[in-house]
Amino acid sequence: MRRFDQKSLLNRRNLLVGGTVGLACTAAQSVMAQPSTEKKSLASIASQNGIIFGAAAAREIFVDESYRKLYLGETKSITTDYALKFDALRPEEKVFQFEGADALVEFAVAKGLIIRGHTLVWNENSPPWLKNKSKAQITKIMDEHIDKVVLRYKGKIDIWDVVNEPFWPGHNASGGYRQGIWYDVLGKDYIAQAFKRAAKADPGAKLAINEAHTERSDELGLAIRNGLLRLIDEMQNAGIPLHAIGLQGHLQPQFPSNDAGYVKFLEQIAARKLEIHITELDIDDTIYTGSVSVRDKQVAERVYAYLSHVLTVPNVKMISTWQLSDRYSWYNDTEVLRKSGATRAPRPLPFDSDMTKKPMWFAIEKALNGRKKI
Ligand code: XIL
Repeated sequence: MRRFDQKSLLNRRNLLVGGTVGLACTAAQSVMAQPSTEKKSLASIASQNGIIFGAAAAREIFVDESYRKLYLGETKSITTDYALKFDALRPEEKVFQFEGADALVEFAVAKGLIIRGHTLVWNENSPPWLKNKSKAQITKIMDEHIDKVVLRYKGKIDIWDVVNEPFWPGHNASGGYRQGIWYDVLGKDYIAQAFKRAAKADPGAKLAINEAHTERSDELGLAIRNGLLRLIDEMQNAGIPLHAIGLQGHLQPQFPSNDAGYVKFLEQIAARKLEIHITELDIDDTIYTGSVSVRDKQVAERVYAYLSHVLTVPNVKMISTWQLSDRYSWYNDTEVLRKSGATRAPRPLPFDSDMTKKPMWFAIEKALNGRKKI
């Protein structure tokens, strides 16, 4: 529930566009540069700098024409926000609701957009009917789910977030794994099994682990980073197909961060020869105070600092925001608002609720353009 509601592809199957190396720009440079008079989109600016720019999209793009136009103008890829999540797709054991995902995939294919399927297996958002099943039953449900969903979009969905958020140290499971139906019944082997199954169903798709909170430099963020690197090593040693690491990038300025340290982490992923995709960029602006313009400036500065560092790592190939306009951000969801304690409409994205560019748009533009060419 939203509370504040008012292929001429870059080689579909080989997103390693390459060709750019970045070096950090001075963070002190202002991100409030005047809008250029040229009509450039984030997708075109990104592509000139070796990046595919995209955003998560949901049904709003079919009901709000101004929003749809924003996607067509600004993005080169879309992520299926909630349409492909297990509980949305399978509210009952025998019911598959493909309508929402079909519409997004059809739209993206017609418009030549790359598609990121989100997500096949996640220990959150499990429907109640998954409870009290045996190991054999859960194995069968997961395998059949992956077969059915991946095969339906074979050749259309270019990248899969096969497993979302495998880690949550707060659950105190060994290795820091997130607990939930898949982990509880299958142990951490559910991850390898899911990747093997997805690769079999569509050998041409790019397969990713997507993880949250790694931007934080506190104990939690560092534990997740370590867990993730260990998991990558285990998967690679076992020959499990894994092509990319998605890092969500939901920036949380209320927690400590250290962008230079984060670059070191990205370099550790890059050393393992994987692509890096920033998959869900937005920012929790709850802690910023002052007028809208003062807060928007702080948002832009934080986003610029983060991205200008991230973009120094050549293996970073994609940046997607989680939606495009403040109007449709998940930060407006009742439950998320309750958790964040926000008392005013969140402004986490590059466009405001009237689809007008905010300083965050210019911060992204500037960070992309600051990526040094080889
Ligand atoms: C969010 C969706 O956007 C919301 O509509 C839904 O209610 C909750 O989930 N990390 C993820 C995404 O990986 O799947 C989440 O999406 C946002 C946080």
